Amino acid sequence: MSQVSKDKLHKLLHLLITAAANAALYNLQHLHVLRLNKQAIVELQGFFSKTDELSLKVIDDLLVCNNHPVPDEPAVRRFIDALKRHGIYFLRITPEISNEELLNLINVLSKSPDRPAAISNSVHLHFGQLEVRRRTQDTYSPAWGIQEIAAQEADQLLEIYDAVRTGEPLDLTAVHHIVDGFIASFHQQKDAFMAFAPLRAMDEYTYTHSTNICILNIAQAQSLGIEGKLLTDIGLAAMLHDVGKMFIPHEILAKAGQLSEDEWSIMQQHPVLGADYLLKTPGVPRLAVVTAYEHHMRFDGTGYPRGQQPWTQHICSHMTAISDAYDAMRTHRAYDKAMDLDQITSIMMNLAGTKLHPQLTRNFINILRRLEQSE
Ligand SMILES: [Fe+2]
Ligand SMILES: [Fe+2]
Repeated sequence: MSQVSKDKLHKLLHLLITAAANAALYNLQHLHVLRLNKQAIVELQGFFSKTDELSLKVIDDLLVCNNHPVPDEPAVRRFIDALKRHGIYFLRITPEISNEELLNLINVLSKSPDRPAAISNSVHLHFGQLEVRRRTQDTYSPAWGIQEIAAQEADQLLEIYDAVRTGEPLDLTAVHHIVDGFIASFHQQKDAFMAFAPLRAMDEYTYTHSTNICILNIAQAQSLGIEGKLLTDIGLAAMLHDVGKMFIPHEILAKAGQLSEDEWSIMQQHPVLGADYLLKTPGVPRLAVVTAYEHHMRFDGTGYPRGQQPWTQHICSHMTAISDAYDAMRTHRAYDKAMDLDQITSIMMNLAGTKLHPQLTRNFINILRRLEQSE
C-alpha cells in the first residue's frame, strides 16, 4: 500500500461528502449526486494507477489513509464524523469499484443517525465496524501475571468510577493504592510492565483505558527521571483523566462511535466536567485537575476545550495525550489486528509537532523500541 497524494485525497473526500449532502437534500438518484459519484470514480482510478487498495481508518479523531495520517481539513472532519455516526472505523476500496458500489458508500454517508443506513460490503468496498471484545484468558499472551494484576486494577477502578456515577465521593485512597501498586510493579519489572497494559476492550472502555494510560504515563515519566511525589501525581492524573465521562449519559458512552453532532458536543464536555469534579474533591492533586482539563488539547493549540491562546499545557497533559493516542491505536477493531510497532511509530511521528508534543513523542517511541528489543 503506497502513500497517496494529500490533495487528491482531499478532493475525493470533498466529492463524497458533497455527494452525500446532495443525496440527503434530494435523493440518491439526483443528477448532482450521480455526477459527483462519477467524478469520485475518476479520482479513485487515479489512485489505483499507483496503489492496489485505498484503506481508510479512523483512529480517535484522525483519518489514516494507507497507514499515513491525513492532514486535517473540513472535508476530512466531515468524512470522519459521517463514518463515526454509523460506527464505521474502516473502509477498504479496491480497483474496479463500480458506480453502484460507490453510490452505496454515498448513501451511508448521507444518512443521519436516526435513520441508520444498511451497511453492506461488496466486492470492491469493505466496511469495518467496531468489535466488542470481551476479556478472556486467550486475549492475553505472554506475561499473564502482569496483565492479570492490571486487569484486577481495572476492575477495581470500575467500582470506584461506578460510585462516582451514583454520586458517592471519590475514593481517592483506593486510586492512590492502585497507582502505588503500579509504581512498585514498574520498579520490579521495568519495561516489561508497560508492554502488558491490558488491551482495551470496548465494553470496558474507561476503566481499562485509564489503567493503560496510567501505566504508559508512569513509563514516560520514569524514563525522564521523574520519581517520588511527582511520579505518583502523574499516575493519579492519568487514572483520573477521563473521570468526567462518568457524567456523560451512559447511552452516549456506550454508543461507541455512532454519535450525532449533539452527542459529540456532550461527549466533548468530559474534560471540563472532570476537572470541575476533581477541583471540588478534597485531596486531589492539582495536576490531576489540570490533566483532566487539558488532555484533549493538542500541541498546536487546537483540540478541546478551546483555551485562551497561547495556552501552555502541562507536561503531564502532553504525556497523557501521547498515551491516549497509543492506546487508541492498540484498540482491536473488527477489520484488522493491532497495528505493528512500525506503523504506530510512523503515525505517531507524523502527529509529533501537530497533535502531540514532538520531544515527548520521540521519547515515547524510544521506550517502545527499547521494549521491542528487550522482548
Ligand atoms: Fe478523554
Ligand atoms: Fe482518554
